Amino acid sequence: SSMTKFHQHLRCYHGFWFRPEFVLLGAMAAQDHFVPRSSDILICTPPKVGTTWLKALAFATLNRNDQPCRQSLLLSHNPHICVPSLEYNLYGERRLPELTAVPSPRLLSTHIPYQLFPSSWVSSGFKIVYLCRNPKDTFVSYWHFINKITGEESYHDSLDDVFNSFLKGVHLAGPLWDHVLGYWNASLVNPHNVLFMRYEELKSDPFVRLRRLAEFMQCPFSEEEERQGVLEKILDMCSLESMRNLDVNKNGHTIKHSFKFKNDAFFRKGKVGDWVNFLTPEMAERLDQLMEQKLHNCGLSFND
Ligand code: A3P
Repeated sequence: SSMTKFHQHLRCYHGFWFRPEFVLLGAMAAQDHFVPRSSDILICTPPKVGTTWLKALAFATLNRNDQPCRQSLLLSHNPHICVPSLEYNLYGERRLPELTAVPSPRLLSTHIPYQLFPSSWVSSGFKIVYLCRNPKDTFVSYWHFINKITGEESYHDSLDDVFNSFLKGVHLAGPLWDHVLGYWNASLVNPHNVLFMRYEELKSDPFVRLRRLAEFMQCPFSEEEERQGVLEKILDMCSLESMRNLDVNKNGHTIKHSFKFKNDAFFRKGKVGDWVNFLTPEMAERLDQLMEQKLHNCGLSFND
């Protein structure tokens, strides 16, 4: 079969593909036990669209005026520790975390598709920041990433095999089009509670997008902060170069069940359009056409 070594472990749950033994169990425990507050801010993404960057930006922005300054935690901790994920860090491996003592606003994250949110989450009024990315770059980043898994498991899956699987929607939290569509539709229904962003916009217009993010999180930058260059400082602190060069991200590890990642696996090239170095024109065309067909008439397109 064309199943890759990595993907043969995935199982389909209500139309989405997960690793059953930990991600899915964590997601199900979160569905059953997580009680959102209207003040919560949830960073929602498919894998490999710049989650790590967005976590750093949101954390730095939200904690910029705390005393003692929590923002500096980003210098000694990977962003995935600063902004924990519901299904991995919090509810993963059958843990039931005590989240009631965490002061508001709580900043959390998830790859769980919107379609799998319990109705109590949807009606809670919490805020969602959704990030997505050109599917071709998302795929290339994903392929690199799964081949960087070490530990009990490691994979050497070919680009062609992973690509064919991706086209069928079989990849972590896939199909990508359904993931994007769920949040896109939610943002249309409820624009006050769902901020829909793209990696490419963050790259091309960082100041504009960071301002928007801060407003959305209800901690807008004041004129004084603008004058003092607070936005520049945050963008510098969270840049790929700065983050990559921190000791914790150069030498640290993130362990998720039998997966083991070096933290540097989260920081690769950070380029828009890197797919040209990996996909043939025919492959690009296939993925573009498929996305076009799946997103037909919804008002969202990834065509440049
Ligand atoms: P590439 O593999 O294309 O380089 P995620 O955080 O969702 O796992 O996504 C990882 C992608 O975001 C990788 O893309 C990575 O290089 C990029 N990335 C990580 N940190 C970044 C940062 N601070 N600024 C810009 N891009 C970043």
